[in-house]
Amino acid sequence: MVRGGGAIAWWRGAVIYQVYPRSFADSNGDGIGDLPGLIGRLDHIASLGVDAIWVCPFYPSPQRDFGYDVADHCAVDPAFGSLADADRLIEAAHARGLRVLLDLVGGHTSDHHPWFEASRRSRSAPTADWYVWADPAPDGTPPNNWLSVFGGSAWAWEPRRRQYYLHHFLASQPTLNLHNEAVVEALLGIARFWLERGADGFRIDAVDFLAHDPALRSNPPLPPAGGVPAKLFGLQQHLHDMMHPAAFALLRRLRALLDAYPGAVALGEVSSQEGAFERIAAYTEGDAHLHMAYTLRPLRNGFDHPTVAALLQDAIATCARGWPCLSFSNHDVERAASRWAPGGVADPRFTRLALGLLLSLPGSVCLYQGEELGLPDAVLREEEIRDPFGMTYWPEFKGRDGSRTPMPWRPDAPHAGFTTGTPWLPVPEAHRAMAAAAQEADPHSTLHFCRHLLALRRAEPALRRGEAVPLALRAPLLGFVRREAARSLTVLCNLSPETVPLPPTLHGLAPLAGAVEGSALPPFGFAILAPVSQAAAAWPVPEGALTG
Ligand code: BGC
Repeated sequence: MVRGGGAIAWWRGAVIYQVYPRSFADSNGDGIGDLPGLIGRLDHIASLGVDAIWVCPFYPSPQRDFGYDVADHCAVDPAFGSLADADRLIEAAHARGLRVLLDLVGGHTSDHHPWFEASRRSRSAPTADWYVWADPAPDGTPPNNWLSVFGGSAWAWEPRRRQYYLHHFLASQPTLNLHNEAVVEALLGIARFWLERGADGFRIDAVDFLAHDPALRSNPPLPPAGGVPAKLFGLQQHLHDMMHPAAFALLRRLRALLDAYPGAVALGEVSSQEGAFERIAAYTEGDAHLHMAYTLRPLRNGFDHPTVAALLQDAIATCARGWPCLSFSNHDVERAASRWAPGGVADPRFTRLALGLLLSLPGSVCLYQGEELGLPDAVLREEEIRDPFGMTYWPEFKGRDGSRTPMPWRPDAPHAGFTTGTPWLPVPEAHRAMAAAAQEADPHSTLHFCRHLLALRRAEPALRRGEAVPLALRAPLLGFVRREAARSLTVLCNLSPETVPLPPTLHGLAPLAGAVEGSALPPFGFAILAPVSQAAAAWPVPEGALTG
């Protein structure tokens, strides 16, 4: 067991490794990753030196949105294994010192969920009001103008009830009515079910969508910056369909439940709508709702100096009120190694810079499977796309499959060792040489760089949870100090493809990670520096770890 809060909460500054089980490791050759496959690869995760895993949904589901359409929250989809496998996973992770966060999808279910099957059949079913039902407008059109994130109206017609139901995502993902006490009780029951089985908490799906305006007021328009965008969702100010304060009441109830399980936490997903870090602060301040939350908002901009400087400020400001969790890559976005790379072409120097920054900013971290290998996003053909979001918007938006392709384990094995069968998404050829085993054998690989940073973060309280103070440096240099007690570490990033000399104030520090050449940072260089007098005593740097 790894339960227990301890004097310092484990999750402050923790690194949480995100597993997308469908693409992690396949144990039975059906081309889909599963829980036994994940258990078989836990040693890889533990060897990184992370604190916890977050496992994306593995519950019974028609898989229209690859598990985010849950048909039974308290069971395991046979494609992923059994409940006994889930128990084994929790036990095996704990045995390796890893905590386990499960995905709690509380805002909606699958339309195959028995709650919805009954609810849609009749207005007098026991779960009749568990979803958001509304009469049509007098002209038969939907009750208001709300739009689905995945395209089109957020309302779908149900002839049997002669009413519309709300869905923020696919029509097969009806929105739960969290203004209904019975629904809240049911969700708390699900959380309790997994906590009793040993889970250490949850990643809370789509927190901003948990509650809506019960009066169902239409959203005001947001004039498009230029022409009509492919994704209509961007045309509205989402004042009424999402981010309703009633979500706080639910989160407070969840927090009270979690507090009864020492060390259990809630990590929220906050949408990319404007003000995302403000909302993270509001959801996490005062130890009353979520423990921490992440947003993919910063990824909307390029990896330029103003953006990274703003991200640093946002992280610092959020830490002053609550607690952010930084995330640069996950199953919903293009991997940072491609998205942010100069010209969109992955460059190991840049990949490590982004990884270094991620693991040095104040807050906790979500590290997405394959990020430790520096994987670029996969480029897929239209016929290979499986994500319904991508299918709707192709070619304008190619969906999320590019970051969901299987983990490459061995460079020489079929499908890079992910499966002995046919993988549900192809393993990109470029990922083969970057497979875990290949990088394991190369001391200068991104994997070793990542592991080194994680070890440093574990050894250095200043890096894990110390305060962050920005340094006044001129672009393209960006830097900050992380400090706790007498320990003070300097984090430096060169956001340009040129070698940049360091100002004299930064000369003579000893690198603990990354590389400084003379008194300059190489192109896209990253370094963590300590005063020479402190460096040797505090951190025995393994030979060869400072380069590359
Ligand atoms: C998940 C997505 C999913 C959506 C709907 C999210 O934010 O991360 O993968 O499509 O919620 O459940």
